Amino acid sequence: MQDTRQMSVLDAIISRRSIPQFQPKPVPREIIQRLLDAAVWVPNHRLTEPWQFFVLGETSKRRFAEIRRDFRAATMPNPKAPEVQPALAKIVEDTIHTPVIIIVTAQGHDDPELREENYWATFGAAYAFMLGAWSLGIGTYFRTGAFRDHPPLREFLGLATGRRIIGILYAGYPAAIPQKQRTPAAEKTVWLD
Ligand SMILES: Cc1cc2nc3c(=O)[nH]c(=O)nc-3n(C[C@H](O)[C@H](O)[C@H](O)COP(=O)(O)O)c2cc1C
Repeated sequence: MQDTRQMSVLDAIISRRSIPQFQPKPVPREIIQRLLDAAVWVPNHRLTEPWQFFVLGETSKRRFAEIRRDFRAATMPNPKAPEVQPALAKIVEDTIHTPVIIIVTAQGHDDPELREENYWATFGAAYAFMLGAWSLGIGTYFRTGAFRDHPPLREFLGLATGRRIIGILYAGYPAAIPQKQRTPAAEKTVWLD
């Protein structure tokens, strides 16, 4: 595990990885709150502050795990088959043992331009959380996908119409840090005179 005490912003940006597995060690609530307090300082056009974060406690984590399992089961041709039960049970186990789960939501808007701005700003906040967490030695995994708009998940949170789940942040102290590749930005950059 690298020494995170002197991590610069650039080091955090470059060394952060999505962490699929966490140590069971809990992340103190004060640290989560501190990271969220930092995350809301992202750029935000018109200062709409469109975000709302749902941090799951033990009971809500279990309910969330069941909703996640049922969502996955609904994609299976035969979700009652005995051979798929271990995989479905694992979803519940992995979820309830994830130290931190934060559902990140954004206020939408009838105007598509304002809606996009709200979504971008909220993802910015999620990324700021991820970078801040990484600088403290805490790993994160941001997930999106169709699950975000799954009606039982919205009902569970009591989400108002017009508010959208932008993604789900899983976090904790990393069990391992995967290696990833990036194409050098020079290959994706056009310098105009
Ligand atoms: C907007 C966004 C949505 C993502 N959604 C998912 C997802 O639904 N499932 C998933 O496995 N990873 C998801 N990821 C994580 C990416 O898979 C991950 O960032 C990518 O593999 C690069 O790895 P790194 O973050 O370790 O550099 C998402 C990342 C972003 C930025």
